[in-house]
Amino acid sequence: MNLLQTKSVAQLQAEATGDQRLNKTLSATNLVSLGIGAIIGAGIFVLSGQAAAQYAGPAIVISFVISGLGCLFSGLCYAEFASMIPIAGSAYTYSYATLGEFLAWIIGWDLILEYLFTASTVAVGWSGHFVAFLREFGLVIPEYFSHAPFDVASGQLVITGAALNVPAMAITVILTILLYIGIKESASFNSLMVVTKLSVLIAVISFGVWHLVHHPELAINNWTPFIPPKQSPGHFGWSGIMRGAGVIFFAYIGFDAISTSAQEAKNPQRDMPRGILGSLIICTVTFVAVSLVLTGIMKYTELNNAAPVVNALQAAGAPVALRLVVEIAAIAGLSSVILVMLMGQPRIFFSMANDGLLPAIFAKVHPRFKTPYITTTLTGILAAAIAGFFPLSLLGELVSIGTLFAFAIVCVSIILLRYKQPSLPRPFKTPLVPIVPILGAATCLWQMASLPGDTWLRLAIWMAIGFVIYFGYSRHHSKLNSKK
Ligand code: ALA
Repeated sequence: MNLLQTKSVAQLQAEATGDQRLNKTLSATNLVSLGIGAIIGAGIFVLSGQAAAQYAGPAIVISFVISGLGCLFSGLCYAEFASMIPIAGSAYTYSYATLGEFLAWIIGWDLILEYLFTASTVAVGWSGHFVAFLREFGLVIPEYFSHAPFDVASGQLVITGAALNVPAMAITVILTILLYIGIKESASFNSLMVVTKLSVLIAVISFGVWHLVHHPELAINNWTPFIPPKQSPGHFGWSGIMRGAGVIFFAYIGFDAISTSAQEAKNPQRDMPRGILGSLIICTVTFVAVSLVLTGIMKYTELNNAAPVVNALQAAGAPVALRLVVEIAAIAGLSSVILVMLMGQPRIFFSMANDGLLPAIFAKVHPRFKTPYITTTLTGILAAAIAGFFPLSLLGELVSIGTLFAFAIVCVSIILLRYKQPSLPRPFKTPLVPIVPILGAATCLWQMASLPGDTWLRLAIWMAIGFVIYFGYSRHHSKLNSKK
């Protein structure tokens, strides 16, 4: 059964060190920064307030802890694989080594839902923030050019009357050009964005703590009850906290994207675990602190809007300058999320092409810039088109289901490889195997189960398209198959 044929880890390791085409320039700091760049974005700046208002109340803080813990289980599994098999294909490559070509293809195809679709989703969010920011200065971009021509209302696609989301397309194209030019340049831009968003979030936390210390009655009032009583399933109470954790999972997406830059890291064996786990821990602490402050300075019932952090600051009488700076930080934050996602996708296509599952032209590296420029351009065009034409609501849930699926497979693969090849050198070892991977996979499957039936249907359609391409093209061009 060649569908189950696996690529040997030794061969993958030889490819990782032997392939000098990509620029190996990223340090541990770059990797942590890429992780934070990918993680902190729409999740904290937009979704946090809505999830508090609708599902968990102030206990959204607990949702952040639960979701962060779930991601930590998967993160520990990613860290083992990324240090052992430092190949740009990430979960696709890990499953090629453990579960065989067919499942690897499925994961590679599924990862498009994570990287490409997150880039487009966040670009749509970026457009909303950018348009609102310009409006503060009297500059108006007409709706006709800042909204998608389609929207989803009660499960139906409807025409909005708008033409195209031009700002969403523009940011995607600009960041694609940067990625085309170089990984080092992209990492530097990302670091600037990360410093901006982290320092502003620290300022928000400091202001919030200062405000609450001076108005303890406000904190007591807003945090009581910390877990509002259950109104219906998933709406306050512990079931609301769990629903909140599922929604807020989006905020953590991105730590795994670092693993796609493994072939460009100077010392992936040592630095991949640092990048993945370091960024995850820094972001979890930041999310918990921001959500605590947010629900302290503003009643959770009033957080249901597109800019909860800015609005809470306004209500607490923060200086106008701080609000404007937060708006800039949100725009910077979303830019780096788009950047890292647009970085991850081409590298997965690149690995799939190296294995023959996609056309060889996708494995081309730019002679001067040393970037996978064909796949970078293709990703940019696709992401810009999706961002221009489709609304946020349609894209967001597909991203979560696709990502959760990939995480679950990575967790299962750790157990399989430990069993099949126990003596392979592992620079980083996931602790407490099989408990941690089982908890990781179970958390992902449970969160997938809580997503609506429509999202499952879309996943099934997406996978069906993937099957057709695999059996129509990839299987016949696979380098592993042709060796037989
Ligand atoms: N974690 C990323 C965000 O919140 C996807 O925007």
